[in-house]
Amino acid sequence: MPRFASPSATTATLSTGVFSGLGERARSHTGPLYPLHVGDTWREPWEGGRVENLAPADHPLLYTYAPVQGEPSLLAAARDKIARRSGRLIDPEALCVVSGATSGLSVVAQTILDPGDEVLLPAPFWPLIRGIIASRGATPVQIPLWDRLADPGFDLEATLERAITPRTVALYLNSPHNPTGGMLTPEMAAACARVARRHDLWVLSDEVYEDLYYGDTPPEPLWARDDLIDRAIVVHSLSKAYGYAGARVGYAHGPRAVMQAVRATQTFQVYCAPRPMQLGAARLIAHADDWLAQTRELYREAADKTARAFGVATPAGGTFLFVDAARWLPPGASDAMPFLERCLDEAGVLLTPGLSSGDAYATWVRLCFTSVAPEVLDEALTKLAPVLAATSRGGPS
Ligand SMILES: Cc1ncc(COP(=O)(O)O)c(C=O)c1O
Repeated sequence: MPRFASPSATTATLSTGVFSGLGERARSHTGPLYPLHVGDTWREPWEGGRVENLAPADHPLLYTYAPVQGEPSLLAAARDKIARRSGRLIDPEALCVVSGATSGLSVVAQTILDPGDEVLLPAPFWPLIRGIIASRGATPVQIPLWDRLADPGFDLEATLERAITPRTVALYLNSPHNPTGGMLTPEMAAACARVARRHDLWVLSDEVYEDLYYGDTPPEPLWARDDLIDRAIVVHSLSKAYGYAGARVGYAHGPRAVMQAVRATQTFQVYCAPRPMQLGAARLIAHADDWLAQTRELYREAADKTARAFGVATPAGGTFLFVDAARWLPPGASDAMPFLERCLDEAGVLLTPGLSSGDAYATWVRLCFTSVAPEVLDEALTKLAPVLAATSRGGPS
């Protein structure tokens, strides 16, 4: 059947445009803009891991292809970090460098999913994961969950169970979590594991915020539990904690056989992550612990003050707040747009519509407290204060 000039039916369902209405408005805004809708950081990576500081003489053929599995120095550093963090010594053949977690999860999705499959997607969720699943022709089954975990009587296991069908093949878990900043407790992880084992599901464990926790001790890596390790495909990234998002480097591991298939899939997608960035990433993982601790402290302060400004609890981890804006919306508003527009028009602050994190979150908004430097964040919060105060008192909207 001729298709010209349309894309494939699967691609045609993908949307990247949830922000587009506000984007147009932002372009005509006068005055400073505060891009709190972007999940990024103002921090430059630790100096020793910056590619401009690699001595070319030490790295001949820097711009050739790297091995598909990854640069040996990065594989070694990643394996070592995984062992330190989880107590698990990963089979070297079951580890693969990926070109950031976005590409890594995409490669994993292509490896394990067929069109028509269903993936349990606890909501709200990181916006791109929905498209990653859908771009395989699979269905992301949205399950409102993260904002309800603390509700009395909320039954995580029963909630997941209700979403199971004969087509369900995987459960996506991301803890610490984008966008709520929440974390699954060991009991919650055990409930997820029971469902996964009962229905023979893969578990996709997205660990990109593993180093961004604001309590005193790092969260337990869920994938490393005895009841998950045999079915978890785990994706890590240097983007968030190491300020390395533009470098596009991460790593994935899981059961050996599936990881060999992941490696094969990757060959036909990106082939390899950029070699210079892999060398920098190896140095970051091995030597940037002090920088990382300092980053965590700075982010914790940003999380605290932003949460105070919005009148919500400080998140346990991650780089976001996810807030129900209903109290700042005019009566009858069906989504958060009036609030998003006021934040933009009156304060220059850009936030993300909750709908990008799930169909059940139309009145919610997401904001990233690490995308701008502390003094810029202060400025943004000062400008936002009247918007938050006026509407929360039921004032004009
Ligand atoms: C939960 C989650 N997973 C994966 C990613 C993608 O990370 P990367 O930059 O490594 O592609 C992000 C980025 O925002 C994220 O929030």
